[in-house]
Amino acid sequence: MNKYLSLILALAAAPYSAAAETITSPSGNFRLEVDVDAEGVPYYSLDYKGKSLVGKSLLGIVVDEQGFDKGFVITGTDTCTVDRTWEPVWGEYATVRDHFRELAVHLANKPDSKQRREMTLRFRLFDDGLGFRYELPRQDHANYLTVRGENTQFALGPDDSTLFCIPGDYDTDEYLFSETGFDGLAEAMASYRGHHTESQAVEKLSVQTPLLVKTDAPVYVNIHEAALDGYPAMLLDAEPETRTLSAHLVPDRLGVCGYIQLPFNTPWRTVIASDDARDILASQLVLNLNEPCKIEDTSWIKPMKFVGVWWEMFTGRQKTWAYSDDYRAKPGVTDYSELPSNGRHPANTANVMKYIDFAAKHGIDGVLVEGWNEGWEDWASFKKNRQFLFDKPYPDFDIDSLTSYAASRGVKLIMHHETAANAMDYERQLDRAFTYMKDKGYDAVKTGYVGAIIPRSEHHTSQWMVDHARHVIERAADYRIMIDSHEAPRPTGLCRTFPNWLAQESARGGEFESMGGNPPSHTCILPFTRLKGGPMDYTPGLFQTDLSYYGEGKTDKAGTTLVRQLALYLTMPSPLQMACDLPENYERFPDAFRFIEDVPVDWSESHYLEAEPARYITVARRDKASEDWYVGAITDENARKALIDFSFLPAGKKYTATIYEDAPDADYRTNPQAYRIRTATVDSRTKLQQPLAPGGGVAIKIQGK
Ligand code: NOJ
Ligand code: CA
Repeated sequence: MNKYLSLILALAAAPYSAAAETITSPSGNFRLEVDVDAEGVPYYSLDYKGKSLVGKSLLGIVVDEQGFDKGFVITGTDTCTVDRTWEPVWGEYATVRDHFRELAVHLANKPDSKQRREMTLRFRLFDDGLGFRYELPRQDHANYLTVRGENTQFALGPDDSTLFCIPGDYDTDEYLFSETGFDGLAEAMASYRGHHTESQAVEKLSVQTPLLVKTDAPVYVNIHEAALDGYPAMLLDAEPETRTLSAHLVPDRLGVCGYIQLPFNTPWRTVIASDDARDILASQLVLNLNEPCKIEDTSWIKPMKFVGVWWEMFTGRQKTWAYSDDYRAKPGVTDYSELPSNGRHPANTANVMKYIDFAAKHGIDGVLVEGWNEGWEDWASFKKNRQFLFDKPYPDFDIDSLTSYAASRGVKLIMHHETAANAMDYERQLDRAFTYMKDKGYDAVKTGYVGAIIPRSEHHTSQWMVDHARHVIERAADYRIMIDSHEAPRPTGLCRTFPNWLAQESARGGEFESMGGNPPSHTCILPFTRLKGGPMDYTPGLFQTDLSYYGEGKTDKAGTTLVRQLALYLTMPSPLQMACDLPENYERFPDAFRFIEDVPVDWSESHYLEAEPARYITVARRDKASEDWYVGAITDENARKALIDFSFLPAGKKYTATIYEDAPDADYRTNPQAYRIRTATVDSRTKLQQPLAPGGGVAIKIQGK
């Protein structure tokens, strides 16, 4: 053999041995290294400000058809720098900068055989963190893959870290957060036993994303995913000894994580990091990694506030979504005019008219009505003996007269589709349901998936349900319908692509104030975790915080002062904000309710002034529709002084600040409704030391003089 030819053959067979590929972020604060090891397993590591943040972490996808996890050689790389801006339809900023260096690493496995596999790892390194995904182009062989898992790791050692986490659960994320080191994780996860969690939360030490980690340094790290589409959601399994987190894809009940057809790109895996906690809140990295808006004309997408026939069912006044109690005696009866009303059904015409009047009087855009349609009689038993029908109002809900009454008062009715997790049946009814909505003048719907998913082979966050959510949002866009989804797979920034996805629940919301309560720290951690995927329908605005007020057995006391509830409209930004309490409670505190009337839901600028996860958040925002500014601050169960530096204001101009503050003796445990409203003149040089009560906050409206 010619000696040059044998050298070439030897080189081709040798494991890849060139230097690792590296890039730095535009400002140079992050440095990424990517390579394959001796077994051809790809890996990456990430440094932040000259120190290791994510150590050597493996990459790869495990499929039945094999070849996407090891045996790779690097066949080439591409790099580029991108710096562009885009304008969200709604959000915290009128303009978002998308600035990153990109590294694409092209890999091949068994290049000369019939099992040849190709894959590209695409990394985007921003000044606020990293995103990367697997890109599987069409292959010569094996274009239909059965996904069993992902080898993606995030090796956080050797420093200890604090995790702010909820248990890995395939079906729900409505949990309070644990705050624990790796060493305490087993105990923390065990404490959730008996909730909905599947055993992996306890046995595999799985946690959900968005996960917040605070290293000892400290560096704040948020790990999540962006653009979850056509693929299952990702949990993270923790290994306390090595402080490594490994991807755990949600399987269906047969153990398969996904079926994909190539070409296919996985969701982006994201790491947002900074030594300043405020940067985590300000980061738009997850949105930047999503595709631009797919809806051409977005003029019909309207951020809004709403009240609802809703809290009446949570207060303990024994109100029901169901129209009748007689279904047990007459289970076969489907004609509701044969069933008597139970008299405790607030979704009735007269009551809804009162909500419409209240909304009209106070400039609230919408009225949600839950329990308006047939099928609620058996819903909570999950036996599903009755089918939810999305075009059949109960006899006491006169939809036509309500539609015209609402229109005459300039108020929009908001539709409710509780599916009781029968997603399959919802798909069957979807076109009929959306057509019905449009006929009756509705253009927004709150959807819900309480219970075990049908098809029963699926979980709430498995691939099938991710696909379902995508299907519903796309069909809704066709009908010009906005969506607020509850119990759907947690958001991953798809609201950029489909801005008609105004909000999701996907975490433990305000409703739990009537079911055990949310400690004040809960809303100090949600913006660092859940909200990095997209806005939450948290349902703030609870004024009657002590539920024993209703005198019917409820003893819950909410973990909040009244003023803190006002601040949540700033610290939990969403284009869809509920004022959750009963109109009668707002009428008792009209001066405080004024803030909810005024506060916008869409912003041109946001400035995070103070932040520490689970402790406190202070934020200033400018209204998109005016020159008015707003400030909101919240604390945990400890009193604190927020330091509000008004340098976000344009220099040289005087403003009137209307300050809604906790009274000096306010305390969420003993005196939650004590508040004061005062005014002050402020300008860009003002620095305000504002006391916040335990579990309290402050809400400020700032208008030019
Ligand atoms: C759970 C939702 O989170 C809640 O807001 C709704 O009222 C009930 N399901 C009934 O659909
Ligand atoms: Ca829920």
